[in-house]
Amino acid sequence: MTRRVMVAANWKMHTDAGSARDLASSVLAGLSDELSCEVVLFPPALFVEAVVTLVSGSQSRICSVGGQDLHHEDKGAFTGALAGPQIASTGARWVLVGHSERRHVFGDDDATVGRKLQAAVRAGLTPVLCVGEQLAERDAGESVAVVTRQLEAALDGFPVDQELVVAYEPVWAIGTGRTASPELAQEMHSALRAALGGRDVRILYGGSVKPANAAELMGQPDIDGVLVGGASLQADSFLQIIRAA
Ligand code: 13P
Repeated sequence: MTRRVMVAANWKMHTDAGSARDLASSVLAGLSDELSCEVVLFPPALFVEAVVTLVSGSQSRICSVGGQDLHHEDKGAFTGALAGPQIASTGARWVLVGHSERRHVFGDDDATVGRKLQAAVRAGLTPVLCVGEQLAERDAGESVAVVTRQLEAALDGFPVDQELVVAYEPVWAIGTGRTASPELAQEMHSALRAALGGRDVRILYGGSVKPANAAELMGQPDIDGVLVGGASLQADSFLQIIRAA
C-alpha cells in the first residue's frame, strides 16, 4: 500500500486576519494539482473558516484545512474552548491532537489526548496525533518507550479502521533549529510503525523542518511527510518543502 505524502503547516499562534489570508493565498497560488502530495494548513482557529473559503475557491484538489486543537467535550460551558463539531462546521477536515505545546505548555496528559482523539472522530475530523520525547528522555535512552506509551495510551479504544495520521515531533527539535537526523527520525518512525501494528497510518516528522533538510527526511522509508512550524510561515519556504516531497 503506498502512503500518500502529506506536507502540513502548523501556523501555531502566528498570523492575523489579513496575513493568514495572504499566506494561504500565496501557498495556494504556488500549488498545482500535478503535485502528488497532500497539503494541509493548520491556521489559528479564528482564521480556519477564512482559509477553508480560500482553499475551496482555489479548486485545489490537494489542499485541505485543519484545527490545531479541540476540547474533548462536544459542547458545554467551557469558555474559550473549541469543540470538534464547531471546527468541522467550518469545513475543516483535520485536527492536531496532543501537540507537544499542548502537552507541555497547557498540560494535556495522555488521558486527555485520548479523549480528544475520540472527540475528533465523533465530529468527523481526522486526527493528526502528535507524539515526541523531551531532551532529558532522549538522553536517558527512553525515546522509544515514551513515544510508544503516548501512542498506546491515545489509541486505547480507538477504532482500528478509523483514519489517523501520526506526527513524530521530538520536543528538543521543535523551534530550536536542531533537526533530528534522517537516520534518527527513521529509527523512531520505524519503532512507531511497529507499535501501530497492522494499522495503515501515515507518520509525519516535525521539528525544524526546512527546505534544506525536507527531501532527505522524506526520503526515509517510514517518513510519510512533514509537519512544519516556522518554515511554513513564509509561502516561499513552505512551497519549497512541498516541492521537495
Ligand atoms: P518548527 O518547524 O518551528 O520546529 O515546529 C515544528 C512543529 O511543532 C510543528 O507542529
